Amino acid sequence: GPVFEKRTWEPSSVNELNEKLTLQTNGYGENFSSRPVLGEGSVRSPIMIIGEQPGEEEDRQGRPFVGPAGEILDRALAQADIERRNTYLTNAVKRFKFVKRGKRRIHQTPSLADIKHYRWWLEQEVRLVRPDIIIALGATAARALTGKAVTITRSRGSVLPLTEETHFLITAHPAYVLRIPDTAGQNIEHEKLVRDLQTASAFAV
Ligand code: URA
Repeated sequence: GPVFEKRTWEPSSVNELNEKLTLQTNGYGENFSSRPVLGEGSVRSPIMIIGEQPGEEEDRQGRPFVGPAGEILDRALAQADIERRNTYLTNAVKRFKFVKRGKRRIHQTPSLADIKHYRWWLEQEVRLVRPDIIIALGATAARALTGKAVTITRSRGSVLPLTEETHFLITAHPAYVLRIPDTAGQNIEHEKLVRDLQTASAFAV
């Protein structure tokens, strides 16, 4: 059974939060991997970045954004002059959700219930890191952060208030860049991602 009551307990550090996260999210849902992928980077960072959920490679390594989407993100961060290790990088959902096809594990988009289940952990991360700006990568991160369904094309690129001390900016998920079939289209989308990261970075003090 649960070792603490989510609603009344307040962790005092990201480490403490993550210890409990590992225990408390274990066994949730049918199609989740047993390994949590925790947030990493600087817990004092003015910039927090939120992805969707770990993928196959992230699950294997136990680190966020180390697969193909991570390569896109790393390149975009470098182009925007943001040092990855100086940010706090995490995901809305902390375990890899997949369906098995033979030996392969196929990524499944987290449901609204999954987002809600993991939302408490994300809110605690925001509270503990207290970033100036949060970059939400894609619709799942945006939904987890704002509690509302958002359309990326309509809501991307602007800095908006979240709390008194924290603002947020929504942009496309780096995996979206990968799904565009032609190189020219990919380059355009990549540039937009870099521009959004620059906007966010300029806002961080
Ligand atoms: N995609 C995400 O949203 N997060 C990761 O950590 C990796 C891929």
